[in-house]
Order: sequence, then structure tokens, then C-alpha cells
Amino acid sequence: MTIAHRPSVTKAVIPAAGLGTRFLPATKATPKEMLPVVDKPAIQYVVEEATSAGLTDILMVTGRNKRPLEDHFDRAYELEELLAGKGDQDKLAKVRESSELATMHYVRQGDPKGLGHAVLCAEPHVADQPFAVLLGDDLIDPRDPLLAKMIEVQGELGGSVVALMEVDPEDIHLYGCAEVKPAEWPGGRGVDQGEVVRITDLVEKPDREAAPSNLAIIGRYVLDPAVFEVLHETKPGRGGEIQLTDALVELAKRTPGRGGPVHGVVFKGRRYDTGAKADYLRAIVRLASEREDLGPEFRDWLRAFVTTELPEMGY
Ligand code: UTP
Repeated sequence: MTIAHRPSVTKAVIPAAGLGTRFLPATKATPKEMLPVVDKPAIQYVVEEATSAGLTDILMVTGRNKRPLEDHFDRAYELEELLAGKGDQDKLAKVRESSELATMHYVRQGDPKGLGHAVLCAEPHVADQPFAVLLGDDLIDPRDPLLAKMIEVQGELGGSVVALMEVDPEDIHLYGCAEVKPAEWPGGRGVDQGEVVRITDLVEKPDREAAPSNLAIIGRYVLDPAVFEVLHETKPGRGGEIQLTDALVELAKRTPGRGGPVHGVVFKGRRYDTGAKADYLRAIVRLASEREDLGPEFRDWLRAFVTTELPEMGY
């Protein structure tokens, strides 16, 4: 297939049906994706990232406690009327922003049987075109665009594309890990070729000794629709869940036209795992420090906290 005939990516799928147990009790009645990062729920950053990459048809895979997610991307007429009545245009714009970002669709996962199963729930909506998957608790700094690059690589090389990031080898057991070789790149326009690798195998959460590299899969994918057929056949793996990584291993072995190969884009920008407490806090501190409105006051406090209060507390 020539590049001109490859179908373009227009749909994004955001799995947000996990239980978020690492954030209990905050996530007892609220999805973890709704936890605020400064003053916006984490999920809004993810939806904004998808729309910035040109994907305005978004399917969110939700589970229990789905209401707040749907409400957040819907109109809030009472609140809007109240703010309009007061003439508070700034706050009105903030309320409306999330409902005007994209065309949102929802599907329920039922039992959270794993990320692979969540992606499979998107099959009727996505049908037969390549599509993007953005994990709802993974935040890519808006200043370091990644998804548009991945879509470009998928357009050039076909098959599927996953985002990779170099991590400390001590932490590789927390991630899916990629075995890679140099990509065979026919045209090589636009994307820096050094950032793109061919994936030969993937191992989910390996021990440090068994890890084929320190390249971890992070929560952005551009997938060939053949992944659905593979996921239907994928047996529950680690933790009794249907793992997306297992399906990608199969796609990595396949030839072009049957869903393969799988390439990785090595991301060197800022990324926060807002599903993990320490990273969630780091995201808030970093983004708040750099905000025009909050930044000056917050940075002054942070400086004083580090230089004076922490030592006084004995740290
Ligand atoms: P996690 O591995 O972070 O799991 O899922 P989790 O259940 O959300 O969180 P913890 O570990 O209990 O704290 C990675 C992503 O996959 C989605 C999650 O919502 C998250 O965005 N997911 C996971 C689903 O949509 N369905 C599932 O069955 C599992």
C-alpha cells in the first residue's frame, strides 16, 4: 500500500475503566482520571492532547463511577447560566472548554478484565481504521508533542506504533519492556529516524535480569485494527487480565497488511504517571510552578519550603 492510500488516523480511544486502587480512598467513589492536576482533571489533559494531534472523535472506555467523566465533558447548563448571569466570562469559558473539545463517545467495560479487554470494547466504534489509544492516567506534557509524531510514523511505516521511554533499569519491572532493533525506514521525512525503532518482542513487567532493554512502553499507541482479531484470541495473562502487550507481541511478528510490524517512538519529553502517587505530586508541582497565574507565588513558597521548612522538619 502506498502512503497516499493509507487510511489516516481520526479516532482516539481512552481506556479509563481501571479500579485505581493505588489511589484509595480518593478513588472509592471517583475515577482516578478525575483527580485534579492543579485545577484540571487529569483526563482533560489527555483529551486535549488527542485533539491537538487532530483526533476529535474520542471514545472513552469507562467502568464503575463513570458519571463524573461523562458529566465533565458535557454541558453544565445551570452553572453556565449562573456564571453568564453574573457576567463572569472567564469562569464561563473554563466551564465550557471541556464540553467543546471533541465529539465524545462512551462504552462501558463491565468487569475491568485488563487493558487489552478495554481496547477490545472499542472494536464496534473503531471498525477498520488505525486508531490511537491514550491511557487516561498517563500525562504527556503539552509542550512535548508525541502523538502527532506517532501518527506520522504509522502513516509512513504502517502497522502499529507504541511510545517508549528510557527508564532506570531498577524500575523496568513496573512496565512493559521492548526488545528492539533499528527501524528500516524507506522515506525518512519529518520524524528524526533515531527516535524510531522496530520492536521484535515485548515482555510485561520483567525482572531486571530478564529485561531485554530499559525501554518501557508508556501509555500512547497507534494501533492497526488487526489488534482486535488478535485480542479476541488472547488468553488472560499476568494477573488474570487480557494484556494489550500480549497482543502487540503477536502483531510484532506479523507482516505488513496483517497488522504488523510494530514500531516504537522513543519519547524524550516530560511524562507523568498520574496513576502513581509520587508522580502525580511531581506533575502538580511542575505544572503549577510554570503557570503564569499561580507560578510566581507558588515558586516563592516552594523555594522557602525547600531551603527553610524542610531542614527545620529534619529532612
Ligand atoms: P492500571 O494498570 O493503572 O490499573 O491501568 P488501574 O486499575 O487503573 O489502577 P491501580 O493499579 O488499581 O491503581 C492502566 C490504564 O488502563 C485502564 C486504566 O483505567 C488506566 O488508564 N484500564 C485498566 C482499563 O480501562 N480497564 C482495565 O480493565 C484495566
